[in-house]
Amino acid sequence: MGDGAILFREFLRFPFQVGAVLPSSASLAAVAARPVADDGDPVVVELGPGTGPITQAVQNRLGKRGRHVAVEVNPRLAGLLERRWPDVTVVRGNAVRLPEILASLELTADVVISSLPWASFGHDLQERLLASTLASLGDDGVFTAFAYVHAKPLPPAVRFRRRLDDLFEEVEVSRVVWWNAPPAVVYICRGPRRDHR
Ligand SMILES: C[S@@+](CC[C@H](N)C(=O)[O-])C[C@H]1O[C@@H](n2cnc3c(N)ncnc32)[C@H](O)[C@@H]1O
Repeated sequence: MGDGAILFREFLRFPFQVGAVLPSSASLAAVAARPVADDGDPVVVELGPGTGPITQAVQNRLGKRGRHVAVEVNPRLAGLLERRWPDVTVVRGNAVRLPEILASLELTADVVISSLPWASFGHDLQERLLASTLASLGDDGVFTAFAYVHAKPLPPAVRFRRRLDDLFEEVEVSRVVWWNAPPAVVYICRGPRRDHR
């Protein structure tokens, strides 16, 4: 079974958790992974890797450097990732638990790359996930998340975008990645604010 069929099957089982019918394109994955430094040993955390298009883009940038932790709540998808990328630390669990997960690995994140379906999430879950992300980033840490262009006006997507402005010093919005179904932009957020509310 191809990755498209695998993600679609999981979407039918858990539509709000998966939030996409197709895996991200290599073009979108490359934009999302761009903040991964091309030198040193960065700690990269991926939230919601699914079938792994962004996992592949991060691995392309890292080569054998640094650490790559991928947190996936869906056990079938986590199993697939473990088999495909033995160099990636795949954690089967909820990204809400990210601070405990990283503490158990004695790591602080340099980059957190989310492909979670924020526009499908309610207020409480968005807030818990954002708080966990902020608590896991170092002071120079970068957070990236993508948004589908057609869904940007939806209230949960608007709320998420506003919260990024509250929680980070700087939010850069990428060009639209048209070569993705559906087209998307990537938010690249720098300067986590420690005094956030
Ligand atoms: C939109 S899909 C993205 C999949 C893949 N990264 C891509 O870009 O094609 C969202 C993924 O996030 C996972 N997910 C949703 N909520 C999660 C959570 N709270 N913690 C960890 N993973 C979660 C889903 O199981 C799914 O694999």
